[in-house]
Amino acid sequence: MVYVNGRFVPPEKAQIPVTDRAFLFADGVYEVIFGRAGRFAFWDLHMARLTRSAAELEIPLPLDSAGWLAVAKRLWSEGGDSGSIYLEVSRGAAPREHHFPDRIEPSTVAFIKPASAPESCLGPGVSAVLLEDQRWLRCDIKSVNLLPNVLAREEARRRGAREAILVRDGMLTEGAATNLFVVREGELWTHPANHLVLAGITRHVILEEARRLDLKIRLEPYAKADLAQADEIFVTGTTSHLLPIAEIRDEWRAKGPGPITAQLHDAYWRRLTTELEPAASAAASAG
Ligand code: PDD
Repeated sequence: MVYVNGRFVPPEKAQIPVTDRAFLFADGVYEVIFGRAGRFAFWDLHMARLTRSAAELEIPLPLDSAGWLAVAKRLWSEGGDSGSIYLEVSRGAAPREHHFPDRIEPSTVAFIKPASAPESCLGPGVSAVLLEDQRWLRCDIKSVNLLPNVLAREEARRRGAREAILVRDGMLTEGAATNLFVVREGELWTHPANHLVLAGITRHVILEEARRLDLKIRLEPYAKADLAQADEIFVTGTTSHLLPIAEIRDEWRAKGPGPITAQLHDAYWRRLTTELEPAASAAASAG
């Protein structure tokens, strides 16, 4: 089932007009939330970010957190054990004019993407490529305007790599669909949450755990020129969780499994598997 503008329909019946502004202008916002058996990880943080993204673009949200949760739980009632829920709100459908139309109802879509239950993601690490960051200057908004991210991921795939790490003015920003962390001499670096990166929810949880572990955190961009000094590199995101990077093609190679990466992974994994909302008792009483 797919949720479209207040209705639950089979995917083949789910329709959005061709004049929808998400289709014409990428004029919409979205979220991806990890779920397990109808319960969701870091729900409130995702809702807060969706609210902010929509407010930045002046798109009214048709549902509040409780409304989205009801939609998510109903969609999941047919779904499997594990996966993610995708939510999108576009400005809506209107005759094609670039400026905001005067009277317009937002379009809302939600569906589940099943995935096999992750055991843990701390494998031997994946390959990445380094590419120029070609995105706009509002990467803090989680908008569906993802063409540069799509092109970067495709380039990574063609080169046999899992992720593209983006570089703007000589500084590493983030992955095509992940945030980037570098460990150097025991310090944890990640780009500050400004207009050049998405403030990832996974990033947020990792930083909380890093503080708890008393790691020294540097919320600063890491220079491409300093890659040789990096001891450990990993990327984070809702669907990839925490992925160690084994190599950045032609630029950097991990010396072995990273101890700080492993510590943060274990702390994150504990939170991912225990902080599912709503709590089991609330979920049971909500039916
Ligand atoms: N992407 N940076 C970018 C550009 C992203 O697209 C994402 C997530 C992240 C990580 O954010 P979070 O930890 O909140 O998932 C960082 C989602 C998963 C996607 O587009 O599918």
